[in-house]
Amino acid sequence: MNIPSIATLESFKSINEESISINISSAKNSILPLLFASILHAGRTRFLIGDGATLVDVKIVIEILRSYGVEVSVEDGVVDIDASRIEANQTCPELCKKTRYSILALGALISRCGFSEVGLPGGCDLNRPIDFHLQALKSLGCEVSESEGGVRGKRVRPSENVVNLPYPSVGATLNAILCAAGAETRSGEPILIHNCATEPEIDDVIAYLGKIGISIRRKWRMIEVASSNRQVVDVVEHRPIYDRIEAGSYALAAAIFGIGVRLNNAPINLMSAVISILLQLGCKVNRDGGALIIDARQIDSDTAIRLCTEPYPGFPTDLQPILTVLCTTLNTAGVISDTVMPERTRFVDELVRLGADITVCNSEIVVKPKGREDKSHYPISVKATDLRGGMAVLLYALKNRVACNIDNYGYIKRGYSNVESIIESLGGGLQV
Ligand code: EPZ
Repeated sequence: MNIPSIATLESFKSINEESISINISSAKNSILPLLFASILHAGRTRFLIGDGATLVDVKIVIEILRSYGVEVSVEDGVVDIDASRIEANQTCPELCKKTRYSILALGALISRCGFSEVGLPGGCDLNRPIDFHLQALKSLGCEVSESEGGVRGKRVRPSENVVNLPYPSVGATLNAILCAAGAETRSGEPILIHNCATEPEIDDVIAYLGKIGISIRRKWRMIEVASSNRQVVDVVEHRPIYDRIEAGSYALAAAIFGIGVRLNNAPINLMSAVISILLQLGCKVNRDGGALIIDARQIDSDTAIRLCTEPYPGFPTDLQPILTVLCTTLNTAGVISDTVMPERTRFVDELVRLGADITVCNSEIVVKPKGREDKSHYPISVKATDLRGGMAVLLYALKNRVACNIDNYGYIKRGYSNVESIIESLGGGLQV
């Protein structure tokens, strides 16, 4: 997508001066798998993650690594890891159930130690099974069994040459890559993983694995993992990509509030799907060096949003709740289908409680314009049903000036590091 540069456009100077400026953090969905990938390096890794270190999920994964005997220190957004020593026979079920990606410990530990036992994953309750993960590990030569509250895996035979994922699941692709990195086929040929997810955070993990000597090539949905040729490097340093979902959330928020927003460090090249929606709404979108500038002061409120979420590079499921809030501000009904996470609709009840007119029918979210007029003058109790649903509730309440108590507010802190100051700059007040 060709986005003009602001330097050439005089008319954008005013919006650049008036807009809210937000620094985008390192991508949560890169940092989490990267932390697990560091288990494969029997040495030291340094991740430069900045504000990403304050995210709740990142703190949980660091605790999980420590429970496996990995030494981790965090200072000023720099995470130093020494994984020379690993104790794979731990389960830490309480920690594992706090985050979905604890399941990645399974593939990473099998790769490093030949066996692993982890607690069942939890995190945002979006009703996601782990069958694709387990199926992939079995094809990679592992025996896998589910016990009460946990999963046990052990490498018992050579890997098959070809592993087929039933769906391009992000997590299953990551687990398959991590496990394949320590596997060998009977013939010594590389392992081919088909139908992989193409989310950029996976390529970020592949880039890190390359630095620790694990050679991985991608051809769109096919990933080839060669047997590793590891060389001990003193300290491997890696800076994760910036967060396209955090940036996308605030880009859509610009349109919700009809304002200008400057997103510093936004990964513009990874945001085509969301930028298309903004352009469809008549927003002006430009770049200024590494910043994305959105001028949403004049949008076409009669635009009818009709959209299906899709795996990358399609419109991300993670932004579906925020797009739903945007539809509530338009004059024409919007219809959104979340084909990636059809169960991601629980936040809708909370928006309705706050006054929105939204129905869910056969996992299709139908948003009617405007909603109820009789907004309550008393705080309404709502909950953050999950990370992105929580952000949707926050933005809807703020846009409609409805006072509310948000239960499970901590969910929002799993993925948005500076949310309090941003809500303040949008004219809201949060008491946490
Ligand atoms: C990752 O979850 C992200 N990371 C999610 O972000 C994101 O929404 C999702 O990818 C899709 O982009 C984390 O949750 C840490 P999937 P992941 O496996 O890997 C089904 C956020 O808000 N499925 O690609 O778990 C599943 O039910 C979070 O930041 C199975 O049926 O997602 C879903 O419908 C939330 N069996 C679909 O596949 C499986 O074994 C896609 O899920 C695995 C998945």
